Amino acid sequence: MPFALSLHAGDPARLATPLLAVALPSDKTVPRTLAPLDKALGGALTRAVKQKDFKGNRDETLLLFAHGNGPQRVLLVGLGPSPEPGAIVRAASLAGRKGNSMGIERMGFWAEGLDGTAIENAAIGLSLGGWEYTELRTQPPASERPKPLVTAVVCVDSSKGGAETALANGAAVAEGQRIARTLAMMPGNLCTPSFIADTARDIAKRHKLKLTVFGRKEMEKLGMGSFLAVAQGTPQKPKFIVLEYRGGGADDAPVVLVGKGLCFDSGGISIKPADRMEWMKFDMSGAAGVLGAMEAIARMKLKINVVGLVGSTTNMPSAMAMNPGDVVRASNGKTIEIINTDAEGRLVLADVLAYAARFKPQAVVDAATLTGAVVVALGNIAVGVLGNDQGVIDEILAAGKRGGEPGWQLPMWPEYRDQIKSDVADMKNVGGRGAGTITAALFLAEFTQDYKWAHLDIAGTAYSETDMISLPRGPTGVPVRTFVEFVRGRVR
Ligand code: BES
Ligand code: ZN
Ligand code: ZN
Repeated sequence: MPFALSLHAGDPARLATPLLAVALPSDKTVPRTLAPLDKALGGALTRAVKQKDFKGNRDETLLLFAHGNGPQRVLLVGLGPSPEPGAIVRAASLAGRKGNSMGIERMGFWAEGLDGTAIENAAIGLSLGGWEYTELRTQPPASERPKPLVTAVVCVDSSKGGAETALANGAAVAEGQRIARTLAMMPGNLCTPSFIADTARDIAKRHKLKLTVFGRKEMEKLGMGSFLAVAQGTPQKPKFIVLEYRGGGADDAPVVLVGKGLCFDSGGISIKPADRMEWMKFDMSGAAGVLGAMEAIARMKLKINVVGLVGSTTNMPSAMAMNPGDVVRASNGKTIEIINTDAEGRLVLADVLAYAARFKPQAVVDAATLTGAVVVALGNIAVGVLGNDQGVIDEILAAGKRGGEPGWQLPMWPEYRDQIKSDVADMKNVGGRGAGTITAALFLAEFTQDYKWAHLDIAGTAYSETDMISLPRGPTGVPVRTFVEFVRGRVR
């Protein structure tokens, strides 16, 4: 169900709502504008701050009860010391999550001096805070069921000056992230390549986009021997999805977004250990990010052409599966020796990236849960960023920063290329123990020679194995915002 967002201009004390979240930075006095609200709380707000029951630390909350016709409850939420854009998203997400767990359907949100960017971030946070994947749980009878949070109101000084647009943009991004998170959270037996293609179809229908879905036969005709090598071991129908949004001029070169869509990665014949293998349902997070970003971009009606490409299949061991030592030919004619069948993402992306050239793109950005090595290098904090063009890489790093999905660049020095030299083919699909994220990107670079390209390795950031207070265990929505911010940056 879509999440409804609206604005309330004026005094937050006059907003009739079961819950108002008030976000405050750490160690500050209560702003003057909150005097009427403090009155409705019988002075509890100033007392809580003065007596340090509430310090405004990041992720800190305190619930107060009010009287009168305004908010029934006030939830203080800490912003931490420096209220940068990420802090607003985080506080609003936490507020939304609390509101949702309290079983109230609507809530308000206030923070001091919200500008356009902050309104957008508050909207995103509230919507995503209310996000929960409950579809597969048996629900209690309707009378006992806690109501999900479905509406939030952002309090602003005045609804003029672009506040409505900022709210709508936030709602668009959040809707994209909801799609991405839901797809990623869904188990592999439900979120199949066909399901991903159906989701692309829904997006195409909703926004009148052109959609092409290639199956095994069409991919054979395109000579996609690398992608098909992965798909030969699974009974699932592989899907190569091409989604085209035309917001720019007819002759304008598009931005192409590419996503790895492995609905499950068992490793194939080079099978993974059983322990924690279930997390490999998230191996389609790049694809989910592309579809989520396309939804957001189409909702925002950005004046630019954007193509979304998704390569989707599953990686399974079977009598039909590819074997270590096999050599396959990708659609750009290059041959690949498969050393490890678990390095399947790059095999899928090879053909998808080669296909991207036919759009004569202004830039191509791919996102993939590609290597465990990026988790070793950067943990769960930063996206690994690589590519063949420093300009595009810098734009991606800036976009990630704006969107609260920070990235960190790793080098693509030619010295590393020796690691993927093969005895029999043009390259092999793994580069040994060291610098796994870099050798994976150098492999991809063999298929991106015709355009400017950046690669996001999101294996450490697309999902979280721990509950992060403002974010439940599971998908984070990365890289939707990086994609969207990158594309927006190219419109201006
Ligand atoms: N999907 C995995 C990468 C991954 C690992 C994602 C951990 C999320 C968390 C990828 O297909 C893979 O298995 N990569 C191998 C490559 C290796 C065989 C060179 C890896 O990282 O171990
Ligand atoms: Zn793998
Ligand atoms: Zn994988």
